[in-house]
Amino acid sequence: MNTIKKLAVLTSGGDAPGMNAAIRAVVRTATYHEIEVVGILKGYQGLIDDECVPLTAKDVSNIIQRGGTILKTARCEAFRTKEGRAIAYQVLKKHEIDALVVIGGDGSFAGARTLTQEYKITVIGIPGTIDNDIAGTSYSIGFDTAVNTAIEAIDKIRDTASAHNRVFVVEVMGRNSGLIALQSGVSCGAEDILVPEQITNFESILKQIDYDKRRNKYMRIIVVAEGDDFGGAEKLTQYIKEHFPKMDVKKAILGHIQRGGSPSHYDRWMASRFGFAAVKALLEGESEKMTAWIGSQVRLTPFQNDLPKPKVNEDDLIMAKILSI
Ligand code: F6P
Repeated sequence: MNTIKKLAVLTSGGDAPGMNAAIRAVVRTATYHEIEVVGILKGYQGLIDDECVPLTAKDVSNIIQRGGTILKTARCEAFRTKEGRAIAYQVLKKHEIDALVVIGGDGSFAGARTLTQEYKITVIGIPGTIDNDIAGTSYSIGFDTAVNTAIEAIDKIRDTASAHNRVFVVEVMGRNSGLIALQSGVSCGAEDILVPEQITNFESILKQIDYDKRRNKYMRIIVVAEGDDFGGAEKLTQYIKEHFPKMDVKKAILGHIQRGGSPSHYDRWMASRFGFAAVKALLEGESEKMTAWIGSQVRLTPFQNDLPKPKVNEDDLIMAKILSI
């Protein structure tokens, strides 16, 4: 029997394209099962500040194609404190909320876990981050759109780089994860791909530039993840210029355009499935778990699991190098 009469949904941490599609799926699935839904604005901060709005099936129409999140999001320091979580719990109690759906990343789920342990709140997570680096799921909402955005930009940069015979250093997002760099780089035929997971060998890049110069190849696309150990586009561009003063070297930092934009088909599809599965999980009495993409199926996995994070692997980097000769 369904004991959940009212659920709350929030988005937390960095936004990711597809979060709106997930909100829509949660609201509509819950409504179908006669569960009332409350949207919490600005993530955990909004929960502490009691910023709650009722959400009906109609309220989530015309959002599936929109980037960002209609619920807004935030990174919340106060929720890391016991006092902050105590207030959050009081707000949930005041609104008679039986369960919470958290759409976000690792940090958001860690907060949810602490809340469930302190106050026995029922929580299900939906993985959403453009970095696709959440342990236990091989896919997180937003990654596909972010990589496609990066690809579109790098293709354009390649056109102008080729016209001017320039070296272009393109910085993509990924503080700890090189997946956007790897997949956009390979998909755009980048000559070099630098990721946080591998120590950057700057000497070998210099050697390659020099070798190419001697065979009259000047154009080069270097894709670097923002969290690369050597530094981002700024430092790389400066160092290359110092070694090759006559070379035309430019940089482009793609930044937050990768976080916005209309979600791709894949992100809308995955977000819809995750949202549907999250409510189904609550109806089945589950808690402290997130919806996950495991073995090409939507499954549930505990917030705290021993499963690996999707990450750049050695073989893919070797392939990238070989394909760029
Ligand atoms: O977690 C996603 C992400 O976009 C990272 O790739 C990036 O390093 C970070 O968020 C940027 O966060 P903010 O928008 O808070 O600066």
